[in-house]
Amino acid sequence: MNILIIGGAGYIGSHVAREMLDAGHKVTVFDNFSSGQRENIFADEACIEGDILDYAALVRAMRANKYDALVHLAAFKAAGESMQKPEKYSLNNLNGTVNILNAALETGIRNVVFSSSAAVYGNPEYCPIDEAHPTRPENYYGFTKLEIERIMGWYDRLKGLRFAALRYFNAAGYDPRGRIKGLERNPANLLPIIMEAAAGLRPGVTIFGGDYPTPDGTCVRDYVHVSDLAAGHLAALNCLVRQNKSITINLGSETGVSVHEMIESARKITGIPFSASLGPRRPGDPAKLTSSARLAKDLLGWQARYSDVETLITSTWKMYTASRPRGNAD
Ligand code: UFG
Repeated sequence: MNILIIGGAGYIGSHVAREMLDAGHKVTVFDNFSSGQRENIFADEACIEGDILDYAALVRAMRANKYDALVHLAAFKAAGESMQKPEKYSLNNLNGTVNILNAALETGIRNVVFSSSAAVYGNPEYCPIDEAHPTRPENYYGFTKLEIERIMGWYDRLKGLRFAALRYFNAAGYDPRGRIKGLERNPANLLPIIMEAAAGLRPGVTIFGGDYPTPDGTCVRDYVHVSDLAAGHLAALNCLVRQNKSITINLGSETGVSVHEMIESARKITGIPFSASLGPRRPGDPAKLTSSARLAKDLLGWQARYSDVETLITSTWKMYTASRPRGNAD
């Protein structure tokens, strides 16, 4: 297939691009490089620099080739920031996506794979969370993802758009074969923060709360390896094209790992006894989030292969020892 990957120079996008290329597809990346990195553009793919807020540029890019499908991963993703700056998230995540969908319709692209998030569920009413779980986002970021799912639902009914909305749980890790060269800048998630502490780039890790109703008192999350996510995109695209029917699917490991367990494993694997101290709870954090990936298994034949703690940490540590994260100004 001929595939346009919007946001394909980013952390998850570059892994998805590699997966599609490895499967023999032709890939063009569209990215504005605000957080995506030029070193994530592979020699065997094409690249168009452009912004999703520029409708004309999107239409031009989509007309440049006869694409069979597009994958959309261009979004801001910091849940905390979205509560301070909802305008920023409205503009990029909502307006930008409406531009993409309208441009797709205008240029005849009917298959869209969209990176959604477990943030659409909000505080879990039960775990493991399946796709039938109520969707009540607790942050504006999650709201934008849910709104886009709804818009795509209407475009499906009204215009014949076919979409796969992939609700990722906690994305982590790097390509185990080391083929992704750009380390995510200014990371805000647990595992890269732990890696920065181990690499001596920050004084230590603050554990956001130790009094949750979990076995060790720290929050439990479902970490899913980014290469597993990438495989999920490929499987979802194949399913979309095969069945000509839109799908909404969780991608998670179905395994709960606590903050404390992640820190302890990282100390063991890196051999570095970096410091970790207990701090207050971070507002909005649910105690536990784990996925049911049953639907992904049944519908896509997908299963996490690299999402064990050891592979998550080893593949990320390899990146931190091979290269150094840089600030946004670099
Ligand atoms: N945490 C710490 N210290 C830190 C950073 C994180 O203790 O310095 C804890 C958090 O409190 C949380 C866990 O580590 O319990 C994971 O936190 P992250 O910030 O890495 O991830 P979140 O679970 O908050 O959210 C992530 C993505 C969201 C997505 C969600 C889906 O950032 O976009 O997973 O499960 F919606």
